[in-house]
Amino acid sequence: MALKELDRPLRRAVGLADPDRDAKAWPYRIPAVRTLLDAGLDFGRATVLVGENGSGKSTIVEALAEAYGLNPEGGSTGARFSTRRTESSLANDLLLTRGAGAARGGYFLRAETMHGLFSYLEQHPGGPEPVFHARSHGEAFQDILTNRLLFRGRPRPGLYLMDEPESALSFTSSLKVLAFLVDMVAEPGVQLIVATHSPVLSALPGATILQLSDAGIERRDWADLDLVVNERYFLGDPQRFLRHLDVQEPKRKKEA
Ligand SMILES: Nc1ncnc2c1ncn2[C@@H]1O[C@H](COP(=O)(O)OP(=O)(O)OP(=O)(O)O)[C@@H](O)[C@H]1O
Ligand SMILES: [Mg+2]
Repeated sequence: MALKELDRPLRRAVGLADPDRDAKAWPYRIPAVRTLLDAGLDFGRATVLVGENGSGKSTIVEALAEAYGLNPEGGSTGARFSTRRTESSLANDLLLTRGAGAARGGYFLRAETMHGLFSYLEQHPGGPEPVFHARSHGEAFQDILTNRLLFRGRPRPGLYLMDEPESALSFTSSLKVLAFLVDMVAEPGVQLIVATHSPVLSALPGATILQLSDAGIERRDWADLDLVVNERYFLGDPQRFLRHLDVQEPKRKKEA
């Protein structure tokens, strides 16, 4: 039998019909969550989620992880440590369409709870990693990426969800992670969904970029992203930005 190309693990997510859902309650009041529930989202081999703080990236990534069967606090399908539950119940509202014959495994890399995940992994060693807490934050993060996500040097087929994998990483390390993600997505049956504020990681070749905002969720080209346009503007002339901030500050004080 000819080897069929492995399908992607997650083809689509959409909201289950629920007439009792309270649109004013969290997390349903978040515009991006409403787009996900009402219109649904289709996922290709690589998807990048961007948007301002509080636009709903983590809420959505956590719900996708949980609905898929990954620990919403981070880790693989097997990792079940728990600290304090802060996730919404959004996972229960989602209907996922999985790829026919696709892998069911995966990994959720979540910057916010890496400390808890490191502790869990130290107590449940499954690989040759060094002691995570003895590494710098950025080093430990890179260890997770390169050791935990790979099996004999290659990622297993599955869904890899990442929430701000760039946090704690230097520019050079972010570039390394970008190169790592490029290699990952080239593997058969591997699918990536990455929430990020990084202009570097959001440049992942071939990824669909979705920008979350008050308008919901919209597809965008990398060069038109707010985070790219604003950072380019800032780097072009930081003083112009700072002068602007100076002008605003006394005004606000006067109004107060
Ligand atoms: N447990 C919670 N209860 C109520 N509201 C919450 C809870 N967790 C998050 N929120 C709110 O939901 C909104 C979306 O938060 P979310 O963490 O998904 O944003 P984000 O896009 O990931 O932001 P960031 O870029 O800062 O990580 C925010 O307004 C946040 O304050
Ligand atoms: Mg977040």
